[in-house]
Amino acid sequence: MRSLVAGNWKMNGATADALHMAVALRAAAASLPCDLLVCPPTTVLHTIANALIGSPVAAGGQDCHPKASGAHTGDISAAMLRDAGARWVIVGHSERRADHGESDALVRAKAEAGAAAGLSVIVCVGETEAERVAGRQNDVVGAQLAGSLPGHFTGVVAYEPVWAIGTGRTPTEADVAAMHSFIRGVLTARFGAAGTETRILYGGSVKPGNAKALLGLPDVGGALVGGASLVAADFLAIAAAAPVATLSNTAAGG
Ligand code: PGA
Repeated sequence: MRSLVAGNWKMNGATADALHMAVALRAAAASLPCDLLVCPPTTVLHTIANALIGSPVAAGGQDCHPKASGAHTGDISAAMLRDAGARWVIVGHSERRADHGESDALVRAKAEAGAAAGLSVIVCVGETEAERVAGRQNDVVGAQLAGSLPGHFTGVVAYEPVWAIGTGRTPTEADVAAMHSFIRGVLTARFGAAGTETRILYGGSVKPGNAKALLGLPDVGGALVGGASLVAADFLAIAAAAPVATLSNTAAGG
């Protein structure tokens, strides 16, 4: 299976940035060993998606409302993201969970809405530093997966320890591998064979300098990249560090 390297711009980027990024990604995408996704702010989603038409690079949203339409001022539905050119949506990012009090049940409803609109869904999970210090990371992530994943799930899981996001700190490679193995076990227990093919991304301070080590770990199917995805050269260097898919792992997933 090819890795997925996804960029999450968060609340950064204007039209000029989107056009610049699209040009850089288009030029490099064909020679990369992974699938590439960019999730800009909704205000420039259409601009970047339009500029990427005909390239293998996909565009996605960073969040969606669980309903398809209605009286929800300021919100964006999954169908609207798709209409703007998105093929993916991120749900349950820890910043949404923290800033907007999003529960697992709401994240699950958003994931269902994304899939219903024809989007591939990335569901984010991850423990806080206090939870890891207390040794509770598996309990926390296990509960988030149980509550956030729809009953029928064909998307991608992103493991993002909250304390590694935007801090320059990452778990040890052993800790990342252990968590991804744990998540794989949860997915196969719940979804059977389909759970063996779900891509599990690592996110949290992925940079060009640590990408090769992180992306090469067992059960790491790619990366969700925040800060480093804002600089085309850094984002592309991370993507170039993805392992080349082999014949035994080329099954399409997510
Ligand atoms: P970061 O963010 O790469 O800036 O740590 C990752 C994320 O929040 O998706």
